[in-house]
Amino acid sequence: MADSPQSQISNLQLDQLVDAVLVSPKYQSVCPDFIRSIGSQELAKRRSLKDAVKATKNKLHQVGGAYLEGEAHYAVWLDELRKTSQSGNRGDFLNACMRVMSRHSSTRERLALLDRFYATTLAGLPPLRSVLDVACGLNPLAIPWMPLAENAEYYAVDIYQDMVDFLNRFMALLPIQGHAQAGDVLQACPAQLVDVAFVLKTLPCLEQVDKAAGRRLLDAINADHLLVSFPVHSLGGRSKGMAANYEARFRKLVADKDWVVKRFEFATELVFRVSK
Ligand SMILES: C[S@@+](CC[C@H](N)C(=O)[O-])C[C@H]1O[C@@H](n2cnc3c(N)ncnc32)[C@H](O)[C@@H]1O
Repeated sequence: MADSPQSQISNLQLDQLVDAVLVSPKYQSVCPDFIRSIGSQELAKRRSLKDAVKATKNKLHQVGGAYLEGEAHYAVWLDELRKTSQSGNRGDFLNACMRVMSRHSSTRERLALLDRFYATTLAGLPPLRSVLDVACGLNPLAIPWMPLAENAEYYAVDIYQDMVDFLNRFMALLPIQGHAQAGDVLQACPAQLVDVAFVLKTLPCLEQVDKAAGRRLLDAINADHLLVSFPVHSLGGRSKGMAANYEARFRKLVADKDWVVKRFEFATELVFRVSK
């Protein structure tokens, strides 16, 4: 059936909106499908294209841009990671990984926990042969701290093309098979079967765009175990009741499932290990 005049206008407006957002240096690397999805929600709510462009940028900031600290110098970071990896000095390489992780506020919060985080939450599982890192940010830089089997498959998804290009180059330095890709996990949840999926501090972001995202994603992810976590403080540092609220919401999401849930509490992060 041909598009109605109304939907043709909307499609044209949506194309204009995506183009207008993509010219902004802050959003030029965001995958266009994600901008389109947010843009169509905003066009339906706002009075003008200009308002919808502004609202789309605000939303992209809330769910992605706000976590990035300053400009990303991927080429410089990769150079340092490569040099320290080739030097054979593991301490230097781990320090370089930590310096890069400090540029994404989500991974930065985990730096002080890195020695315990994966060892504690994944204790008792055999070395992981495959991992899916959903809305990964810079978390793949923590791979050296994870109990992975040699040659493990590591799949990572985030909305930024330049970030995932960097992550692919970084993972090529490690004795694993790394596959990072840009995409919107709300529109296409990665389907591969993995030993463990990480959904770290991600559900609150996704639910800002789609309230039903949490339940859908937990159901759809094809993993034996999931690590699902929540921040204990907001980006602004407020923490009153946050962990308790997130825990109550998470418990509701899994209430009618026969999944086994283990709880871990760290100073900055509340983690649930779900075994399906
Ligand atoms: C709070 S950060 C968490 C990053 C990482 N999981 C961690 O804990 O270190 C949220 C991440 O989700 C990404 N993101 C937001 N919406 C997304 C979507 N619809 N699809 C894929 N990634 C998304 C953002 O770019 C950001 O890197």
